Amino acid sequence: MTKLGIIGAMEIEVAILKSKLENARVTRVGPMEFFEGTLAGCEVVIVMCGVGKVHAAMCTQVLCSSFGVNAIVNTGVAGSLDAQLDICDVLISTDAIQHDMDVTHLGYDVGKVPGLDVRAFPADEKLRRLAFEVSEAIRPGHTKMGRVATGDQFVSSQALKNRIIADTAAKCTEMEGAAIAQVAYVNQVPFVILRAISDKADGSAELDYPTFERKAAANCAAVTEALAKKLAEE
Ligand code: ADE
Repeated sequence: MTKLGIIGAMEIEVAILKSKLENARVTRVGPMEFFEGTLAGCEVVIVMCGVGKVHAAMCTQVLCSSFGVNAIVNTGVAGSLDAQLDICDVLISTDAIQHDMDVTHLGYDVGKVPGLDVRAFPADEKLRRLAFEVSEAIRPGHTKMGRVATGDQFVSSQALKNRIIADTAAKCTEMEGAAIAQVAYVNQVPFVILRAISDKADGSAELDYPTFERKAAANCAAVTEALAKKLAEE
């Protein structure tokens, strides 16, 4: 039986899901509140981790060590790195990489964490297939699969966007996914990142982000809920 950890960086990314949680119990660990219960028939633990890779890593390790989750979903918004991914479209991760992990001067490729055997952390095949199916059922033609590039930076210039694309070949950029992916990977817990596009990660991002954040976050939460339902039906 699946026990699904659901992580969002900000309250706007998890509020809808928390409002639908049945038999909710709350446990505080450090700065984070973990909401256990049932969502669409699936046993889940929902948590807002805070922005950035450090928060995301702390949270994911607690989910693995203290809550015994056997699958993890990261839901939230992202900047698009692919002209085919429009505002409010959904990107399902194939894998995730840290675009600001740079040990290139010692001969490593951008993103490679010395000591680990992969440069990009692969998402679970089954979770991403199911996520794609449910997302397409909600809004046909508005879902893509691809790589997620993560860093402790809000990307809002064409120059930085171009550099991240050249370094990583990712389709979207955000601030937590690859940290969640790395912790899940080393704990051998299957994961997938679901992100809806709030902006184009270029000079228009500062204006678009506040305009589309809520709608994009709601789209992604709907896909996460549908995924939980699908996992419960298995
Ligand atoms: N999350 C949403 N949009 C983003 C952007 N442009 N850069 C980083 N994280 C984001």
